[in-house]
Amino acid sequence: MTRSDQITTATDPSLELEERIRTHRAQIGIIGLGYVGLPEAMEFAKAGYQVTGFDIDAERVSQVNQGTSYVEDVDSAEMSDLVRQKKLRATADFRILADMDVIHICVPTPLRKTRDPDISYIVNAVEEIKNNLRRGQLIILESTTYPGTTEEVVAPTLASTGLTVGTDVHLCFSPERVNPGDKQFPIYAIPKVVGGITPRSADLAMALYSQIVSKVVSVSSTKSAEAVKLLENTFRAVNIGLVNELALMCSKLDIDVWEIIHAASTKPFGFMPFYPGPGLGGHCIPVDPLYLSWTARLNGFEARFIELAAQINGAMPHYVVTRVTEALNDQAKSLRGSRVLVLGVAYKRDVGDIRESPALEIITLLEGKKAQVSYHDPHVPWFTLNGKRFDCVALDATALAEQDCVIIATDHSSIDYKWVVEHAPCVVDTRNATKIANGHRQKVTKL
Ligand SMILES: NC(=O)c1ccc[n+]([C@@H]2O[C@H](COP(=O)([O-])OP(=O)(O)OC[C@H]3O[C@@H](n4cnc5c(N)ncnc54)[C@H](O)[C@@H]3O)[C@@H](O)[C@H]2O)c1
Repeated sequence: MTRSDQITTATDPSLELEERIRTHRAQIGIIGLGYVGLPEAMEFAKAGYQVTGFDIDAERVSQVNQGTSYVEDVDSAEMSDLVRQKKLRATADFRILADMDVIHICVPTPLRKTRDPDISYIVNAVEEIKNNLRRGQLIILESTTYPGTTEEVVAPTLASTGLTVGTDVHLCFSPERVNPGDKQFPIYAIPKVVGGITPRSADLAMALYSQIVSKVVSVSSTKSAEAVKLLENTFRAVNIGLVNELALMCSKLDIDVWEIIHAASTKPFGFMPFYPGPGLGGHCIPVDPLYLSWTARLNGFEARFIELAAQINGAMPHYVVTRVTEALNDQAKSLRGSRVLVLGVAYKRDVGDIRESPALEIITLLEGKKAQVSYHDPHVPWFTLNGKRFDCVALDATALAEQDCVIIATDHSSIDYKWVVEHAPCVVDTRNATKIANGHRQKVTKL
């Protein structure tokens, strides 16, 4: 390094940071080691960076350090290799944040009981960063949030240290688009969107992400980057609302909604299939659009599509229970006292995540009507709901035959649905999983 280089690096710490990023010497910190943070930590560690995960959950910290994965898309053997090579470690000691060159924030952003955004996890994480902030760090918020959070909440907290955000320390928002359980689109194949508090902040984050993903797309501001994620998930929520309404309509018109969606999907342009189901689940689709409508309302705008989709999607578990009641009624049975097996409680196929899962609301509604509810889910050994523990029951021919009704709430790929229909006396299929069981049509109620 020449003397003039040294002077420039001293005045602009981002030059050294950029060099460390490009040469994979940058220390990467990831706050929040969940469905988003852990796979991302793995990607950076696999790319050769030293990665430190920070989590308030002591159990998760210890599992990472033992190389035991608790996220289905993360392989334990690969993780223990990285831990052994000292590329990956986890800690609950936030003072180590001071050693990090880049800090990603991947903490939850749920809704409050009032259905308003709860950004308290972001606020807590940013407080920890503030307490350990030093010149030359790059902070990237990845948690999904309402437009304005990075600029209005994160930046002022960092600036309260006296450092200038955008020059002394850099700040970006980059939404996470990981799709748990999806083998077709691993992290590398999903382009990353970046918005910086300054163009230089964005450049640094782009340099970093281009080490682990195939494409990085920059937008003009952190606010735009925040809105990109909300558009993507609102698009899904609204389209799912549309097909859920279509399903209700088709049932009245005696049309098979699945047949028409599949046929419409053969159009090679201008149509994209979405499918009806028992309701929205997971940490994203039921939640994120409400972050957008909340901020719109604060600014005097009613986001009507979002509210309508939330209403339609939110009513689906009730509709499923209505269909179960009708199916039992056809056999001269009432819901009260009937044995109902819920097949699949995860919010979507081939994952074990039950957050916001519509199956949980269906179970609550069924229990409210005094049905005897049990469940089977190959990905969920047990869970608690309304203070009661549920344990996964074995799925065998006898157990199926003993039910009054089986509800297919999640279509996990490991289950043979033709076999389920053969042995269960009555099936309510919310996912069109039984499409192959043509010989037993009369037993199956579809959405
Ligand atoms: N799960 C998804 O499919 C997905 C996809 C894209 C975006 N997102 C978004 O990513 C964010 C994280 O979601 P997730 O699914 O990974 O959540 P998660 O609940 O799986 O993991 C969050 C982790 O953060 C930890 N945590 C909470 N507060 C903390 C703090 N102050 N300091 C350190 N750790 C803390 C928790 O203990 C937990 O381990 C959310 O904003 C979510 O909307 C999620």
